[in-house]
Amino acid sequence: MSAVVVVGAQWGDEGKGKVVDFLSEAADVVVRHQGGNNAGHTVVVNEREFKLHLVPSGILYPKTLCVIANGVVIDPKVLLDEIAYLQGHGVDVSRLRISSKAHVVMPYHAKLDAVNEERRGDQKIGTTLRGIGPAYMDKAARVGIRVGDLMHPDELRDRLSRALEEKNHVLTKAYGIEPFSFDELYTTFLDYGQKLSQYVADTSVIVNDAINRGERVLFEGAQGTMLDIDHGTYPFVTSSHPTAGGAAIGAGVGPTQIDRVYGVAKAYTTRVGDGPFPTELSDATGADIRERGHEYGTTTGRPRRVGWLDAVVLRYAARVNGLAGLAVTRLDVLDGLPSLRIATAYEYQGERLTEFPDTAWAFRHVTPIYETLPGWDEPIGSYRKREDLPTNARHYLDRIEAVVGIPVVLVSVGRERSHTIVLHDVF
Ligand code: IMP
Repeated sequence: MSAVVVVGAQWGDEGKGKVVDFLSEAADVVVRHQGGNNAGHTVVVNEREFKLHLVPSGILYPKTLCVIANGVVIDPKVLLDEIAYLQGHGVDVSRLRISSKAHVVMPYHAKLDAVNEERRGDQKIGTTLRGIGPAYMDKAARVGIRVGDLMHPDELRDRLSRALEEKNHVLTKAYGIEPFSFDELYTTFLDYGQKLSQYVADTSVIVNDAINRGERVLFEGAQGTMLDIDHGTYPFVTSSHPTAGGAAIGAGVGPTQIDRVYGVAKAYTTRVGDGPFPTELSDATGADIRERGHEYGTTTGRPRRVGWLDAVVLRYAARVNGLAGLAVTRLDVLDGLPSLRIATAYEYQGERLTEFPDTAWAFRHVTPIYETLPGWDEPIGSYRKREDLPTNARHYLDRIEAVVGIPVVLVSVGRERSHTIVLHDVF
């Protein structure tokens, strides 16, 4: 198996960082292909915690080549800070490659993100306020600035002056906000370009060559299926494609080059930001799971909304991503709960739905139909084999496989790399 995509099967924060980190050991190349520093991955190595937003977590292994591909939007300041942070921890960052085609998140994007959210009032999306949506808007509107532009003073002058004319017009006229200074942005971003230039490359060539050589390439999705701009719970979504198809476009590889896709799902469900969430637990059990699981955003620190596992969502994720299997994370967080629930279908207008509804208004009005399973008492963090798990934990995994219809390939029972039970080989 050469090229494998790992995607979030829920609303992001599924623990992809840990799973990707675990799989990176066997990977030659790890590729990030969408999203930006709205993502946050926490990886724990020998009790040392690393929080990464842009650099693939594969960088923590000494030999892995790490690629930030064309589909990512990059805030250069955040990336340079992250590089410095990694170097400060003794990590060799010379194995990082950045696509010259990746779009740049500019300060006016973050400003527009904030004013747009404020204007939406109680209709707000609950974005991470990192300027991700406005950066992808500029990409689609063909007024974006790309990493390669930062290395060419004339190109940058031209593209920035066009973009800024429009942005300053909107910011001053519609919102009464101070305009951005061209000179300041130009000098700052030219400087960022110089600092990043050593990492910039044609990453599509690098990734395709690696696949053709039979190397193991891991595509690391950010966010999750339900935040996909097409397949997620629109409009409460991000502005990129966290689903598997996004890997092909976002890295410049043909879909035929990808061998398999795996999904990552928590053993329960969380969501940050606004939007419908049928299995949400607004009670003491939800609060309890939030505290045990430290369910607070890596990027924004916001408390995550918590709910029971939703198998309708997972079946949908299996379909739109073509999942070959599921990595189930944070099973240990459920230790000690007397009983657990899995939503196996929804009720909508008196009908039983087994497929995820096609419209946002239907999804807003569904009621989950639950199956209740017994919990387990003992802490499972030290187990490394499926057969060692308590019967009820094994039964819970069996039910996930049965109701989602795909095998569980990996189970995470703690924060460390070693806290992992491998059921099937991924590569
Ligand atoms: P944006 O990506 O900042 O535009 O935010 C859009 C929606 O996606 C909001 O609901 C965010 O909370 C959510 N979101 C963005 N990135 C992540 C992530 O990495 N994990 C979980 N939710 C995210």
